[in-house]
Amino acid sequence: MPAAALLSADVRELLSDARRRTLALVESVSDEDLNRVHDPLMSPLVWDLGHIAAFEDLWLAQRTGALAPLRPELADVYDAAETPRAERGEVPYLRRAEALEYMEETRARSLEVLDQVARVGPVWEMVVQHEHQHNETMLQTLQLAERGVYSPERHPLPGGEGAAGGTVRIDAGPFPLGEPNAEFAYDNERPQHMVHVPAFEIDRTPVTNGAYREFVEEGGYRRSDLWTDEGWAWREENAIERPLYWTGDGRLRSFDREEPLDPDLPVMHVSWYEADAYARWRGARLPTEAEWEKAASWDDAAGEKRRLPWGDEPPDESLANVDQLGFGPAPAGAYPDGASPYGVLGMTGDCWEWTASDFGGYPGFRAWPYREYSEVFFGGSYKVLRGGSWATRPSVARATFRNWDLPQRRQLFAGFRCAVDVPRETSVRIEVFDVRDTLAEDVRAGLTGELKQLPPKYFYDERGSELFDRITTLPEYYPTRAEREILNRRAPEIVRDSRAAELVELGSGSASKTRALLYAMAGEGTLRRYVPLDVSQATVESCAAELIELYPGLEVHGVVGDFGRDLARVPDGRRRLFAFLGGTIGNLFPDERAGFLARLRRLMLPDDRLLIGTDLVKDRTVLEAAYNDSQGVTAEFNRNVLRVVNDGLGANFEPQAFEHVAFFDEANSWIEMRLRANGAQEVRIEGADLELTFQDGEEIRTEISAKFTRDAVQSELAGAGLHLDDFFTDENGLFGLAVARHARS
Ligand code: SAH
Ligand code: TRP
Repeated sequence: MPAAALLSADVRELLSDARRRTLALVESVSDEDLNRVHDPLMSPLVWDLGHIAAFEDLWLAQRTGALAPLRPELADVYDAAETPRAERGEVPYLRRAEALEYMEETRARSLEVLDQVARVGPVWEMVVQHEHQHNETMLQTLQLAERGVYSPERHPLPGGEGAAGGTVRIDAGPFPLGEPNAEFAYDNERPQHMVHVPAFEIDRTPVTNGAYREFVEEGGYRRSDLWTDEGWAWREENAIERPLYWTGDGRLRSFDREEPLDPDLPVMHVSWYEADAYARWRGARLPTEAEWEKAASWDDAAGEKRRLPWGDEPPDESLANVDQLGFGPAPAGAYPDGASPYGVLGMTGDCWEWTASDFGGYPGFRAWPYREYSEVFFGGSYKVLRGGSWATRPSVARATFRNWDLPQRRQLFAGFRCAVDVPRETSVRIEVFDVRDTLAEDVRAGLTGELKQLPPKYFYDERGSELFDRITTLPEYYPTRAEREILNRRAPEIVRDSRAAELVELGSGSASKTRALLYAMAGEGTLRRYVPLDVSQATVESCAAELIELYPGLEVHGVVGDFGRDLARVPDGRRRLFAFLGGTIGNLFPDERAGFLARLRRLMLPDDRLLIGTDLVKDRTVLEAAYNDSQGVTAEFNRNVLRVVNDGLGANFEPQAFEHVAFFDEANSWIEMRLRANGAQEVRIEGADLELTFQDGEEIRTEISAKFTRDAVQSELAGAGLHLDDFFTDENGLFGLAVARHARS
């Protein structure tokens, strides 16, 4: 993990500064209180002392200096992962005098190692930060202890009422989340990666005691509708009525003091559940980590990210309340000079802030220097907190720092602020390209060849699209149901893995199955735009109108065009999911498929993903029934192509004089749809300048519908430079959904 190299003199000073503080914190605590378990959540303070030394010995003397452990018999006692906090009262840890001696001896060895190392690596800073972080934990223990155990001497903090509250609007845009490799940071802050943050509003200051008291007084703790199920169960089981340290009579305890609740201080010692319920009561929500970090550190004008809200300089008393010695928060908004570029206040110091986000690894996460620091907590129910509190030492307070704890915890010096979505302007734009301009040509070419045929895109005028929608509900036509089953089940993971912001759908039709994808994208908060492309203008229009109702803020950019010709009309975009559903790819001949996939591949960027729905080879009777329904809807649909030619070219086909035929051609692995002349026919096609005769029984091929295997799909994709990532099928194995990407990415 690269970091700016420190000088060994700096490290010496950092280490002794950390130690001075640790010793100062416990100086006034009696031996008895040092040894006692004040709360089952916390270790005895004297355990923290030995642990600080054991951690230092492990990483500096042993791992860096290759020395043997100073006190090997203590390794287990001080291993945080080995001994849960609740049991630390019983383990044979060192008492004050021995612990202090152990700390001193360890430190002496560390400094010897420091004199010998060629380069001061980041592990030295980690050890310093570890001690700083334990200082905050020790303060949590001291605050949990009974009144009187600890009577700190408080440095003065700014008073006053703080700044006006209200919210700050943060426009949508990309943001680099996490720490670049410039400074010391933990593994969980890396790697830095771009995220798109939709527009939102965030509270200018943390929620205050005064604001929170209204929630309490208006019955927030009695309204289960405001709480998550888990949160409500927790509240009931523990009879939670107000923040920890609030007394029933409107006072607030802080260490040795109990004073009337100051309405201007940030509310603290609330669980994530309480913060979340408050936000809902206010018609808001907690900010995500990305929102929080952007509001704290992004300088939009400069296009740069700051290490701290005010800049890159470390905090001082004019910028933020950190470094412990105030022993409590300042009024919300008390540090106007510490504002972020967006003007958001109090994002460093005073109180940690709960976010909506679960603790997890960033994409490309690598554990350093050991899995137990963060990785073992990923994927649990831990929630992320940001910002640092008054009890945080400045080295830890950086905009990218991620703290985490369980949603029920209240011992942390934590409060929160709220965010709300900014409703985005819905926009619909539909570009129309003429898809009938080659009708005459196509008809002439198709009907004058040896086997008469018509291109299937001409099924789909308004009536054709309606008939197709009826086909999708027929009992015999299983593909739509099977594909819907797959999409409903898999959309969340497909969307999560692709982090798609945009859905481009080819041959979108009524986009009914597509809703699962849009729903999942909206749920992930990534949904920006939907780009339906279809030959049927009526379909594109009605689908756009429906979707903007369902997804306020959705941008729809429809393209009325031919996917065989107009792919280049698809607007540029990032993180796109291309979808080609319904088995429509099977309506192309093999050589057309190869060309189509290759063109699609050229359109895709490495982050884009492609979903292709393919009907699978199966029993002939099942296949043929799907294209020969008992109600005759498919037949009517098939004949519709003749009506389209009549309308478009002034022809005089008599649709009812043609019979629907569909059969499985096993050698080609496709269903073939034909129209068979019932009796000899004379047809005149004005617009194509064509006179045709049909013998009785003569056929026009109107469509093929190829049936695939997974291997066939994989090799066709590979032939176009696409890599098959996944191939999902429905329970009955009728239909397949391929997920693909650039073969080289
Ligand atoms: N995707 C939908 C509809 C499938 S039917 C579903 O899975 O249910 C095929 C769709 O592709 C129809 O909406 C039709 O209008 C459209 N279509 C057919 N040929 C096309 C072409 N050449 N270019 C663009 N759209 C086409
Ligand atoms: N893409 C659909 C499919 O291949 C189109 C379709 C369904 C179709 N039923 C039809 C085309 C009947 C012509 C006739 O399954």
